[in-house]
Amino acid sequence: MSNTITSQNKAAVIGTGVIGNGWITRLLAYGYEVTAFDPAEGAEARTKEQIDLAWKSMEQAGLDSRADKNKLTFADSIEKAVEGAVLVQENVPERTDLKQKVLEEIDRCAPEKAMIGSSTSGIIPSVLQENLARPERFFVSHPFNPVYLLPLVELVGGEKTDREVLKKAEKFFRSIGMKPLIIEKEVEGHVADRLMEALWREALHLVNDGVATTREIDDAITYGAGLRWAQLGPFMTFHLAGGDAGMRHMLDQFGPALKLPWTKLEAPDLTEDLKEKVITGCENQAGSLSVAEIASKRNEFLVKLKDLVEEYRV
Ligand SMILES: NC(=O)c1ccc[n+]([C@@H]2O[C@H](COP(=O)([O-])OP(=O)(O)OC[C@H]3O[C@@H](n4cnc5c(N)ncnc54)[C@H](O)[C@@H]3O)[C@@H](O)[C@H]2O)c1
Repeated sequence: MSNTITSQNKAAVIGTGVIGNGWITRLLAYGYEVTAFDPAEGAEARTKEQIDLAWKSMEQAGLDSRADKNKLTFADSIEKAVEGAVLVQENVPERTDLKQKVLEEIDRCAPEKAMIGSSTSGIIPSVLQENLARPERFFVSHPFNPVYLLPLVELVGGEKTDREVLKKAEKFFRSIGMKPLIIEKEVEGHVADRLMEALWREALHLVNDGVATTREIDDAITYGAGLRWAQLGPFMTFHLAGGDAGMRHMLDQFGPALKLPWTKLEAPDLTEDLKEKVITGCENQAGSLSVAEIASKRNEFLVKLKDLVEEYRV
C-alpha cells in the first residue's frame, strides 16, 4: 500500500457509525491522521473497537508505512474536527434535513481548500449543497460497506460542484486504494445502489409472494450470479451468454423476454438506439478479446473462487 499524498495528511470524519468507522479505518491504514466527531455517548470507544476488529484485515491487505491506528483523535465539535483537514467526510444518518444542517456547519468551519464529501446512499448532491456558502467543493462520495476493504466509491457532483474539485477528489480516493467512479448525472440512489435496490425489492417480492425463503434467495445469488459478478458485471456476463456473437445475439434471443412478467420492474423499450448502446458498450469493454477468450478467463477465475465460497459461506 503506498500513499502518494505527502503534504496534507489529515482527514476529518463526521458521524462514526458503520460507514464513518469504515472510512476512519481506511484512512488510518493509508497513513492519514484522522479527527472524528460524533455526539453519541460512547462513540469513541465503539470506533476503537471497530478499528481493532478490522485492523487484522488491513495488515493482511498491506499497510502504508505511515499507518498507525493511534493517529485518531475525537473532537468535541465539528469545528474542531475539521481543522486542517484535506477531506471532510460526512456520514450522519440518511435524513436530508440532518445532513443539510451538519454540512452547513462543516462548510462554515472547514479550511478553504478542504474537499467535503457525503456518504449518502441515495440523496442527490444538488439537494445537499443547496444552502452551502461554498458549494463548489462539495460532492457525494458514496462508499460500500466495509469501506476499508471494498474499493468502489461513487463520486457525484451537484449543479454547483466545481468539476476540478471532482478531479482532485478522484485523485485523492485513488491514493487511498479506491476505485472512484465519477457519475455524471445526478439521480437518487446514484448507480450502484439503484442496481442493488432493484434486486433487493425483487427479493422482498419473492419472499412476500411465498416463492422463496431468504436462504433460498441468498443461495440463488451466492452459488450463481454472485460468483460471476465478482469478475464480470451484468453486461459482460450477458455478452458471454450470447455465444460467439456476444451481446448482439443475446439481445436477439432474449430481447422479447423483456415483455414477459419475469420481474416486477418494468423494462425500457428495447429501441435500436438502446440496443446499439448496449452492444457497442460491451464490444468496447471486450476490446480485442473474443467471447471464447473472456469465457476462458472467467472459467479460470470461477475455479479459484468456488473453493473460497465453500470455505467462507455463512
Ligand atoms: N450502512 C451502509 O451499508 C451504508 C453504505 C454506504 C453509505 N451509507 C450511508 O452512510 C451514512 C451513514 O450510514 P451508517 O450506516 O454509518 O449509519 P449509522 O447509523 O451506523 O451511523 C450514523 C452515525 O451518525 C451519528 N450522528 C448522528 N447525528 C450526528 C451529528 N449531528 N453529527 C455527527 N454525527 C452524528 C450517529 O451517532 C451515528 O454514530 C448514511 O448516509 C448512509 O446512507 C451507508
